Amino acid sequence: MKILFLTHSFNSLTQRLLIELTRCGHEISIEFDINDATTEQAVTLYQPELMIAPFLKRAIPETVWRRQPCFVVHPGIVGDRGPSALDWAIMQGRAQWGVTVLQANGEMDAGDIWAAETFPMQWVKKSSLYRHQVVETAVRAVLTAVARFQSGKFKPQPLDYAQPEVRGRLQAPIRQTDRAIDWARDDTVTVLKKIHAADGFPGVLDTFDKETYYLFDACAEDTLRGDQPGAIIAKRNGAICRATLDGAIWIGHLKRKINGEPGLKLGASQILKHHLDEVPEVPFDPFSSDCGETYRDIWFEQKNDVGYLHFAFYNGAMDSHQCERLREVYQAATRRNIRVIVLMGGPDFWSNGIHLNQIEQAASPADESWRNINAMNDLAQAIITTDQQLTMAALQGNAGAGGVFLSLAADQVYARASVILNPHYKSMGNLYGSEYWTYRLPRRVGQTKARALTQNRLPIGAAEARDIGLVDNCFALDPVKFKQKIEQLAQALAHHPNYPALLQKKVDQRRRDEQTKPLAAYRSEELRQMQLNFYGFDPSYHVARYHFVHKIPHAWTPLYLARHRRIRTSS
Ligand code: COA
Repeated sequence: MKILFLTHSFNSLTQRLLIELTRCGHEISIEFDINDATTEQAVTLYQPELMIAPFLKRAIPETVWRRQPCFVVHPGIVGDRGPSALDWAIMQGRAQWGVTVLQANGEMDAGDIWAAETFPMQWVKKSSLYRHQVVETAVRAVLTAVARFQSGKFKPQPLDYAQPEVRGRLQAPIRQTDRAIDWARDDTVTVLKKIHAADGFPGVLDTFDKETYYLFDACAEDTLRGDQPGAIIAKRNGAICRATLDGAIWIGHLKRKINGEPGLKLGASQILKHHLDEVPEVPFDPFSSDCGETYRDIWFEQKNDVGYLHFAFYNGAMDSHQCERLREVYQAATRRNIRVIVLMGGPDFWSNGIHLNQIEQAASPADESWRNINAMNDLAQAIITTDQQLTMAALQGNAGAGGVFLSLAADQVYARASVILNPHYKSMGNLYGSEYWTYRLPRRVGQTKARALTQNRLPIGAAEARDIGLVDNCFALDPVKFKQKIEQLAQALAHHPNYPALLQKKVDQRRRDEQTKPLAAYRSEELRQMQLNFYGFDPSYHVARYHFVHKIPHAWTPLYLARHRRIRTSS
């Protein structure tokens, strides 16, 4: 079928649905929801058999939904209506939640139901819930709805609140007053629940020292305590720890509210640095074995002869300092008595490359970009040149841009079955990219595919990545099962009867590669292009980064997504 996606942005759910429906043999074109006239034009140009709205912030125009079926993916159970579905589900402590695919009509979220699926709720941030449970459930619901539509036999169910199984209700948009933390009354669980329910966007508005901030990225703290609820009692690697009535929590990220508008989302201690002189830095030892609940972005676990290096950076963005810290821990891990190192990334993202927010706020974004890409390259180089261990990248979550290429520094790359990779830099203002991609990528997929991947700018599913050799294998939808399988593979590799020969083969291969073309040559060629991106006359990268970090709404849909506009241009 010809399916048109109408979406606010090309977010993770939209990317995943594109991959899944393409796998089923459908042809997909994408239009960003810019205004009604543009949507009408897209429908006229493409003449889709079905339209799907995976992620919308506005209603579909009547001229469109009257003309043809439009499916709306709503992140709520049957009967739930309104724009704050997940926020309320977390705030209300629901045990089960769901995704409903309904047909757009004149009433928001009240159309006939084509498919509905549920999932058990998890005690996690809204952004995590969306990236895992919601995306997984939405894929099931959309595939069912599309199959039903295609069969021509299915009659969608009108929404009927008289039916006992319809448990959702119309819910008002959540306001900051609903989210507000009362530090003198709210216990730790309540504070965490409020911040989790607003994570990603918009954050919980809170006041500290007469200034207002949006709070994000919270987690519990087991041991630190303070007398005054709300007081900042510790800082660590960009995060701050605040006392609560009955304990303490960490807050990783903040946005300052400036002149009524939210600023950039950055590390909390960076935003509050002028208030934190007296606050102790409480370091975390990444090699400590039992730390209880606390804030940590880098940690190492050892099981038998295998070391697992976790780096759970918020949004997968890695700033210069984080790259440097990670490299130091990595190098310390290589000095341990282990045979295999597994690079685990974080549960939500493996890595999304250099930290664009951090770069944007720097006094010289060009200098900070340069420092950040060099720090990424130093890390990639340390992994590529490891000669005492075999290495694995285990992609539990998605990876984008330099994050994908960093994973290729490892000897073996495995991805969870639902992971999406964006192995390209080009959409960030024609960024050339580094991380030794010109060395690692063609070796895996060949020159032709390497060119296609980096130029087409499209996401690729884990199975497709395996089929072309970008990753070695993919398995398990479930994160727990993925980790179990990774442990089995890593243990098996560490105890492989030919382990010494495998390690020697890798060392010999690296030596031959170095003789053919030194790593330093790849690096300097890539960085020469990056220097032009950062310091040259063409400001595209700086403009694209500004648009990305400030979330400037799209003015048009790029042609690599809008197939319907491509057809027209080429005819
Ligand atoms: N630096 C800073 N923030 C980043 C980031 C980066 N490299 N990559 C992603 N983020 C942030 C987004 O701004 C967003 O922030 P929010 O919490 O305020 O919403 C959040 O991560 C999630 O990103 P989003 O785009 O909504 O996730 P997605 O899963 O839908 O899309 C990508 C993933 C990788 C396609 C997309 O985030 C992207 O293009 N990132 C930029 C990659 C890049 O160009 N890196 C620099 C070159 S190495």
